[in-house]
Amino acid sequence: MVRPITHLKKIGIERILFRKGVSEKELIKFLSFLITPVEEIKHAPQEYISAAGIKNIAVGKIKAPVEDSPDQSEEEKSELVHYKESLKKLSQLLDGLINNDTVDNLNLKIIAKDIMENLKGGYQLFSKLKQVKSYDEATFVHLLNVSILSIYFSHKLGFSRDDCLDIGVAGLFHDIGKLYIAKKIIQKKDKLDLEEFDTVKSHTVLGAGILLRHIDSLTMLPVVVAFEHHLRHDLEGYPKLSFPRKLHVASSIIEICDVYDALTQRRSYKRDYPPEKIYEVMIRDKGKAFDPKLLDSFFKAMGVWPRRTIVCLQDGRIGIVREENEDDIFSPVVEIVNGGPKELIDLGVKKEIKIKQSLNPLGEGKDYINLI
Ligand SMILES: [Fe+2]
Ligand SMILES: [Fe+2]
Repeated sequence: MVRPITHLKKIGIERILFRKGVSEKELIKFLSFLITPVEEIKHAPQEYISAAGIKNIAVGKIKAPVEDSPDQSEEEKSELVHYKESLKKLSQLLDGLINNDTVDNLNLKIIAKDIMENLKGGYQLFSKLKQVKSYDEATFVHLLNVSILSIYFSHKLGFSRDDCLDIGVAGLFHDIGKLYIAKKIIQKKDKLDLEEFDTVKSHTVLGAGILLRHIDSLTMLPVVVAFEHHLRHDLEGYPKLSFPRKLHVASSIIEICDVYDALTQRRSYKRDYPPEKIYEVMIRDKGKAFDPKLLDSFFKAMGVWPRRTIVCLQDGRIGIVREENEDDIFSPVVEIVNGGPKELIDLGVKKEIKIKQSLNPLGEGKDYINLI
C-alpha cells in the first residue's frame, strides 16, 4: 500500500496550507489532484493548484529546518516533520480560538484526518519526540498527543471514521481552559497550594465556556469533553455535579488518554514512571477513575509495553517491542537486539519467556535507542 505521505513527497508536497474560507469545490479539485498517479503529473503542484483556481489551499516544501539524525529512517523523518507541522497548526488554531476568531471546522477535521492517516500507528513515535522540545509549549504537545492517542484508541474500539475524527477534535481542545490560566501556576513544579489547585481545576469549566461560544462550528462534543474529562468514572472528580449522570463515552476515552499521556510525559524526566508502573497506577483506579471495560480495551490496544519499548527479558536478553498481543497484554512480540542474529519472539507463543522490566531509553536502555 502506498502511504499517503510518501505519495505527497513523490509529487513534491511537504506541506499543505488550508486558508480560512476554503470551499468544498476547492477541496474536491485539490483531492482529485492528490489522487492523480505520479506519472500523470506534468507540472509543479503549486502551478496546478493555481491553474485550477484553488485560492485557499497552498502547497510547498517545508521551510522549517528539521534536525537530521543519521539514525532516523526517511519515514520517521516525515512523521516527525508531520508531527511538528500539526503542532504548529494546532498552536495557531488555539491562538485563533482564544482571540475569539471563528473556528473553521472543516480545517479542524482536515487536521484531525491528517493526523489519523499519518500517525495512527505512530503514537509510539513519541519516545523519539524529545526533538520537538523547541516548541515546548507543554500544553500544545499534550493536546496533540491526547488527540492522536484518542483517535488511535477509538479506532481500535471500532468507532466509525467520523466518530474517531470527532473524538480526536474533542481531544485537541480538552484542556483549552488551561491556556487561560496563568503560566506560572500551570508550569509550577512544586506542590500547588489549595487556591492554586482550585484555579487549575477551573480549566474544565473555563474551557467548556470558551468552546460553547464556538458551538456552531465545533459541535457540542468538545464542550462536553472539556467539562467532563476530570469527572472520573465514579464522579468523584471535578467539577462537582448537582445531579449525577453517566459520562459521555468520548469523555471516558479522553480521560484515559489524558492520564496516560500525562504519566508518559512525567517519565521523560522522572525514572519512576516506566510503562509497567503506568499500567499498575492506572489499573489500580479501574472502576474508580476509569471505566473498567474501556481501561481493559485501552491496554489491549497499547499493551503494557507499547511498541518501541526497550525491554529486558527474564533470561537477560534485551529486546524491543514490535507488536502488541491483544490476548495477553504482558506477552507482545519482541525483537531481540543484544548480540546474535536478529530474532523475533512472540511471547504469546513462547509462554516460558517473560519480560522482566522496561529499560529507560534515556538511561540504561540508551545503547538501544537507535534501534527503536
Ligand atoms: Fe484537563
Ligand atoms: Fe489533559
